[in-house]
Amino acid sequence: MTDLLTATQIDHAAQLLRRGELVAFPTETVYGLGGDAADDRAVAAIFAAKDRPSFNPLIIHVPTFAAAADLVACDSRAVLLAERFWPGPLSLVLPRRPGSPVSLLAGAGLDSLAVRVPAHPLALALLRAVARPVAAPSANRSGRVSPTTAAHVLAELDGRIAAVVDGGPCRVGVESTVVDLTTARATLLRPGGVTIEALRAAIGAVDDAPSTTELRSPGMLQSHYAPSLPLRLNATEVAPREALLAFGEAAPAGALAVRWLSRDGDLEEAAANLFASLRALDDPAYSGIAVMPIPEWGLGRAINDRLRRAAAAQDGVDGAAVGG
Ligand code: TXA
Ligand code: MG
Repeated sequence: MTDLLTATQIDHAAQLLRRGELVAFPTETVYGLGGDAADDRAVAAIFAAKDRPSFNPLIIHVPTFAAAADLVACDSRAVLLAERFWPGPLSLVLPRRPGSPVSLLAGAGLDSLAVRVPAHPLALALLRAVARPVAAPSANRSGRVSPTTAAHVLAELDGRIAAVVDGGPCRVGVESTVVDLTTARATLLRPGGVTIEALRAAIGAVDDAPSTTELRSPGMLQSHYAPSLPLRLNATEVAPREALLAFGEAAPAGALAVRWLSRDGDLEEAAANLFASLRALDDPAYSGIAVMPIPEWGLGRAINDRLRRAAAAQDGVDGAAVGG
C-alpha cells in the first residue's frame, strides 16, 4: 500500500527518500515520482514502477541553483535562465560534472544532465529536507498522461511506491520546458511551462528541436501521452457518441460530455486543466474525444505538443510507446 502523506509529513517523506524508497510529490507542473538520484537502486526502481521500457534520462530536482551547479557545469546562459525562471517550470540540460554523485542510470549514461528547481512549496521543502538530488519523472505509468493530482498518482502507482505527498492540483499542469544548453545554440527539446518566447527574451536565440533531437531526448518520442480513446484534433464539430474537449466560448453542440480547458480562451487555465480533462473524458462510454483548436502561441505550444503526441500514439506512430 502507498501512504498518502500531508504537508505536515514532509520530514517523513524525506526519510523515505533517504532510505532509497520512492515518493511521489507535487510540483507546480505535474506530480513527480521521486527517488534518490545518487542511489542506483532507487533510480532503477523508478523505471520499474513506471514500466518504462527503456532508460530515458530523468530530470534531477534540486532546491537551489547552487545545488544544481554542484551537478552540472553552468554557463552564462544557464545563470541567466536560472535567475529569470527558477524556481519554475524549466529544465536545463547541461554538461554533467565529472564528480557528480548522480547515478549514471538517472542520466541514461549521457554526459549531460537535466536539472530543475521546481516552484512548489512542498517540493522545495521536501528537496531541502532530503538534502540530496532527487530524480523525478512524471508520476504516471509509461505512456500515460501525467498526473496533476495525488489521486491520479494513486490510480496508476498504488502499491508500487512508498508514499505520495498530497499538495492538491498542480498550478501549471503541463511539464517543464526542457532546453539543451550543451550546444552552441540553445535548443528547445520539449515545449512546456516556460514559453519559447520568454526564453528568447532572456537569452536571445533558441532553436526549435530538429527531428533528430528525438534520439537525444527520448521523451520527445511521439507516443507519450495517451488516453485510451481516440483523439481527434482541431475539431469544429462533434460526431455522434464523441466527448468534447472544449476551448473558448464557441463550442459545437451535440457532445455526450464536455470538459472545458478554458471557457475564456485563457491558455494558462487550459494548461492547468489539460491532463485532468483528458482523464475525465477517457471513458469507454464515448467513442472518442474531439478536441477544439488551441492557438499555437505561448502555453498553447506545449498544450498542442501534448495533444499531438496523444493523437499520434493512437495512430500507432512510434508504437514502442516510450513514455515519460
Ligand atoms: O515538469 C516536469 O519536468 C516533470 C516534473 C515532475 O518535474 N518531470 C518530467 O519528467 O516531466 P519526465 O521524465 O517525464 O520527462 C523528462 C524529459 C524527457 O523528455 C527526457 O528525455 C528529457 O527530459 N531529458 C532528461 N534528461 C535529459 C538529457 N540529459 N538530455 C536530453 N533530454 C533529457
Ligand atoms: Mg513524463
